[in-house]
Amino acid sequence: MAGVHNRKVAGESTAEDPRFLPLEVGAPTPDAKCVEASLPSLVDETTPTNRFFVRSHFAVPRLTEEDWRLSIEGNLEHPTVLTYADLQALPHRDLVSTLECAGNSRSTVRPKPEGVLWGHGAVSTGRWRGVPLWMVLDRAGLKPSTVEVALQGADQGTEPGIEGALHYEMSIDVAKALHPDTLLVDHMNGERLTPHHGFPVRVIVPGYYGMASVKWLVRVEARDQPFRGYFRDRAYTYIREGQRAEEPRKPASVVRVKSLITWPRQGQVLATGPHVIRGAAWSGESPIVRVEVSVSPAQGGGEIWRPARLRPGSTRHAWTHWELMCEIPESGFYIIRARATDENGNCQPVEAEWNFRGLGNNSIHCVPVEVRASGPPDIE
Ligand code: MTE
Repeated sequence: MAGVHNRKVAGESTAEDPRFLPLEVGAPTPDAKCVEASLPSLVDETTPTNRFFVRSHFAVPRLTEEDWRLSIEGNLEHPTVLTYADLQALPHRDLVSTLECAGNSRSTVRPKPEGVLWGHGAVSTGRWRGVPLWMVLDRAGLKPSTVEVALQGADQGTEPGIEGALHYEMSIDVAKALHPDTLLVDHMNGERLTPHHGFPVRVIVPGYYGMASVKWLVRVEARDQPFRGYFRDRAYTYIREGQRAEEPRKPASVVRVKSLITWPRQGQVLATGPHVIRGAAWSGESPIVRVEVSVSPAQGGGEIWRPARLRPGSTRHAWTHWELMCEIPESGFYIIRARATDENGNCQPVEAEWNFRGLGNNSIHCVPVEVRASGPPDIE
């Protein structure tokens, strides 16, 4: 029924511990912090805003267009403060970009890592409209010695093991900040941003995991030294197994190549005969050039990878939809797998290297299905 969504609470969630917030699926409730998009919604070219995943570390800050100010400061000739009207007066552009949380698919990682136990739904695609960040930095006289640009949200709260309240703050390298596709966004899917997605202004950093796309943006700081902060140096860094605490950690940034199967779904019962397997694929580094699919008996053997058809027309930062027609003549238990390759030759691993927070999990997606001679017809 339209407008009604199943809500699920992840097995080990407790409302008290912010690392294990209840995960919801569907339209977000006003105070929701972690809401998954459902796998079937990945078939949309752009995800409707009320089905777009949500990831907020703290409560949504109450901001108005009238009171909102954006401070542009740091390593600049002319630090400045912009109002919402100032931003509206600057040239805007549109782009469609997929946003994936670095913790997406974490629940499938073993041993179980730290963090919100996302299924595969911390990914969505939006049509974003905004002002290129480079334009604002350029007007403020960005100094050539700038190495990073720090982005701060108005939201604040506490994190486990950290004393006192902190703002959500992230930093991106200056080249990415000056990329023409990095936008100060005020519209999503043709409408003003909603409070959950960063009203009145957020950043969208296409190609980087979602943590860089700071919502409720209030401060942009040009830096001649690398930024240090909880979210950049602790929460969103890869910590390999065996890595010592004092060893430098790689911050999460570029989205790894990945594909997910949207049909059939896990545990589905199919009839013997022809089927169309469908999904979506994306990569932060370069366009998707290939998706291969295998349908093999669950008892092992018979893994044959066949190229899926890529639906044409996907733009550079948006996911690419794909499909494969296949015949499953015999009943039994099967595993369907899909693996994507991007133009730079990056291909999904069978199992992504483990890291402490289960970030960047792009292991090949496996969907177990049962096929019966008497199964329901493939009507999708
Ligand atoms: N910006 C602020 N200010 N606060 C946040 O908690 N979460 C980040 C990013 N920007 C966050 C933020 C993370 S981890 C992700 S994945 C994306 O926002 C999610 O964006 P969405 O909620 O619009 O889907």
